Amino acid sequence: MKPKILIIYSTTDGHTLRICDRLMHVMAQQDCQVQVLPLAQATSADLAGCDCIVVGASIRYGKHQPAVAQFIESHLNILTQKNGAFFTVNIVARKPEKNRPDTNPYMLKFLRQITWRPRLLGVFAGKLDYPRYGFIDRLMIRLIMLITHGPTDPKAVIEFTDWAQVEDFGRQVCALAGQPTSAPGGAMAVPRRCCQTSCCSSSCEGPRSGLL
Ligand SMILES: Cc1cc2nc3c(=O)[nH]c(=O)nc-3n(C[C@H](O)[C@H](O)[C@H](O)COP(=O)(O)O)c2cc1C
Repeated sequence: MKPKILIIYSTTDGHTLRICDRLMHVMAQQDCQVQVLPLAQATSADLAGCDCIVVGASIRYGKHQPAVAQFIESHLNILTQKNGAFFTVNIVARKPEKNRPDTNPYMLKFLRQITWRPRLLGVFAGKLDYPRYGFIDRLMIRLIMLITHGPTDPKAVIEFTDWAQVEDFGRQVCALAGQPTSAPGGAMAVPRRCCQTSCCSSSCEGPRSGLL
C-alpha cells in the first residue's frame, strides 16, 4: 500500500505553499499518497488518517506564526504516534552557514519552543519580493539587508530556494513514511549547536540574533 503523507503548512506570502507543491510532486513520483493542507484547516482526523506528517512554516520578523507551535502542542499526542518531519522557510537560510537544522537560528529556537521531536528536519531559503511588500515591511527588510550585506534594490525579486534540496527532502520524507512508526527515543534530538561558532557549548541557549 502507498504510504500516506500529510503536509501541513503555514505561509504569509505563499512561498511555503510553493515548496509544499514541489514536495508533493516529488513524493507522488516516489509512489506516495500526498495531501497538502493549510494549518488552519488540518483536523485531528486528517492527522490520524496518514502514516507521516510534515509541518512546514515560514518566518516573519523572527518567528513562525504562533499558530504553528499551538497546533503542534495541541496535537502532540497524535504527532508522536506518527513519523514526522518539520521544515522552516526563511531568508537567513540563504547563507550557507545558516541553512542547516543545527545552524539555522529559527529552527533552533523553534525546537526549544516545542516538545514534538520530528525525525526529519529541513531548512529552506525563502523568497525576497520587495515590490510585493508594503512600505514599512519593504523599508524594514531593506534596512536589515543593508546591515547583513544582502540585496537592497527595491525592485528585487529573488528566490533563494535550492529546489534540488527541497526535492531531496521530499525523497527523505517518503523513505521515512515507509518506515515503522518512530519508537520513543528514535526522534531527532534538539541540535545543541547554534549558528554562532563562538557560542557552541552544551549550555548554549541558542543564537543571540537571527538577523536576515
Ligand atoms: C515582513 C517580512 C518579515 C520577514 N522576516 C524575516 C526574518 O525575520 N528572518 C528571515 O530569515 N526571513 C524573514 N522574512 C523572509 C521570509 O521568511 C521569506 O520571504 C519566506 O520566503 C516567506 O515565506 P512565505 O511566503 O511562505 O510566508 C521576512 C519577510 C517579510 C515579508
